[in-house]
Amino acid sequence: MTGEPFRLATQRLVLRRWSAADREPFAALCADPEVMRHFPAVLSRAEADALADRADGCFDTLRSNGSPYGLAAVERRADGDFLGFVGLHRMRWYPDDVEIGWRLARSAWGRGYATEAATAWVTHARDVLHLPRLISITTPGNTASLAVMRRLGMRFGWEASGEVDHVVHVLDLAPGGTA
Ligand SMILES: CC(C)(COP(=O)(O)OP(=O)(O)OC[C@H]1O[C@@H](n2cnc3c(N)ncnc32)[C@H](O)[C@@H]1OP(=O)(O)O)[C@@H](O)C(=O)NCCC(=O)NCCS
Repeated sequence: MTGEPFRLATQRLVLRRWSAADREPFAALCADPEVMRHFPAVLSRAEADALADRADGCFDTLRSNGSPYGLAAVERRADGDFLGFVGLHRMRWYPDDVEIGWRLARSAWGRGYATEAATAWVTHARDVLHLPRLISITTPGNTASLAVMRRLGMRFGWEASGEVDHVVHVLDLAPGGTA
């Protein structure tokens, strides 16, 4: 968990690369059945650690317009608590697109943190990364995630069934787009 530095600050949050201290709270939230309700299963400690490594590793492999991006650890500025991740990555289902995604501890829900962090990423994606658009993917029943997409101004893109039935929302960022 070293390499290309990254930090974005919002009013209440810092979006940053992951630290070793994030692993324990991340494993705890990935072991929470309510957080993982829309995923096939909760994660073991080893699976959560591997996901943290992949999320952090994005920043060493993904670049746009010369700047790194990835699935950032979200830290609350008031107390330094690790809340989960919000960020950008590439999914093998849609390799030409960049997906924005989020997963927060249950104690951090209902406070606007996901939307605040995602809004900072949208601005960064448009103004720094110069990405033409973002997509966001979830299962049709994940109303909390769909609500974040709506708050970001994303539009319904398409539904698909592959490994998992899912719905894709789209946010156009290029000049002439809707963001
Ligand atoms: C998806 C997820 C991040 C959404 O979290 P969330 O707390 O519902 O979304 P936000 O952080 O944007 O918070 C919005 C809520 O905070 C409320 N809120 C409270 N204070 C607020 C403030 N200061 N500013 C903005 N909103 C505030 C809003 O009214 C809204 O409440 P509502 O849901 O009752 O309408 C969360 O449910 C989660 O981590 N789920 C598990 C993982 C998951 O499924 N990820 C998506 C996989 S595709």
